[in-house]
Amino acid sequence: MTMILNNKRILLGVSGSIACYKALDLTSKLVQNGAIVDVIMTEAACKFITPLSFQSISRRPVFTNLWDSGHGDIGHIEMGNSTDLAIIAPATANMIAKLAHGLADDLLTTTILATKAKVIVAPAMDGNMYYHPLVQENINKLVKMGIIIVGPNEGRLASGLISKGRLSEPYEILGHIRAILGKGGDLKGKKIVVTAGGTQEPIDPVRIISNHSSGKMGYALAEIARDRGAEVILVTAATALPIPVSVEIVPVKTAADMHIAVEKSLENADALIMAAAVADFRPTILSNQKLKSDKQNLNLSLTKNPDILGTVKGNFIKVGFAAETQSLETNARKKLLEKDLDFIVANNIIEIGSGFGSDTNRVVILDKKGSINALPTLSKQEIAEQILDKIVEIIQ
Ligand code: CTP
Repeated sequence: MTMILNNKRILLGVSGSIACYKALDLTSKLVQNGAIVDVIMTEAACKFITPLSFQSISRRPVFTNLWDSGHGDIGHIEMGNSTDLAIIAPATANMIAKLAHGLADDLLTTTILATKAKVIVAPAMDGNMYYHPLVQENINKLVKMGIIIVGPNEGRLASGLISKGRLSEPYEILGHIRAILGKGGDLKGKKIVVTAGGTQEPIDPVRIISNHSSGKMGYALAEIARDRGAEVILVTAATALPIPVSVEIVPVKTAADMHIAVEKSLENADALIMAAAVADFRPTILSNQKLKSDKQNLNLSLTKNPDILGTVKGNFIKVGFAAETQSLETNARKKLLEKDLDFIVANNIIEIGSGFGSDTNRVVILDKKGSINALPTLSKQEIAEQILDKIVEIIQ
């Protein structure tokens, strides 16, 4: 659950495209994160999917008609006024044309004209339609009006054509919603560098030395810092996670790459949060041919990698993680001092519900003033909020 969506009123407009089914997933994700979702469907959308589907997920009435009894002719004004953000997903070529020309002939277009909230439009249509000059002109008009266009993505379309026109994935749309809602947050104007994932140290063209880091903690930190208005650079080793939107992504492979990328990203940064699991050693010799398996033993010589957190210097808040299997606080305090950190987030990675790959974590936060804060088992998002709270506290 992410705080930014909790109790926010989101108006979701659904127009008639086969991609309507993705709007159901989007509704579900919004509701799971605490948003109050009012769905308005066009007549064409109702041909693809029923209002009952949305109503079952949003647990609220779904509106389809400007003239619904009980809803009346001021419903669109009230809905337009009370919403924190409006999104049309999927938006057909017809819907985009109507918006671009200010038409108000149904409940959705009328409500969009009546709202002062930010509007996101996520187009979905066949590729040839999308590239038609009239559609492009209409989309440009919306952009000029300050409407945010998300997607469409390139891929296989319902017609079988491979082109641009696929509705953006619900997690991408959700990311844009979160980023827009968070613009004025308590980290506004701050630049935060986050590292994530486990670095990969190549042995030969096929094999690597790495670790079990999933990147979940670092990605949660990057996304929540963005939700709170920060400018975020995410220096990430390979992970299986979706790429966060509205975050600058710097992909890296090895510890040496990460070191260079972090140094570069730190210019004018307010904080560095090193959530990455940096490989401490790399193979001394990188074989440019695949090593053959025709021997009983293979000895690899390893060389120490640079300690990124221990070497970077500057006028920014330095936050480290300590992944431990024993003597948690003693080891973490040692790292806090040796790496000259503002605070360190320590966790026992072999505890159940904690550490690599898990969606939750149980951490102890130790700071340089000597305070120790042992948190209960929380989601990685909730831990990210706590870490960012502490950064805000130090900045203030
Ligand atoms: N770290 C780093 N560069 C390294 C190794 C670690 O910047 N070469 C960072 C990690 O991202 C983390 C902190 O230092 O924020 C502590 O990492 P950890 O692996 O727990 O500690 P190490 O210093 O590597 O000590 P050890 O492996 O002996 O526990």
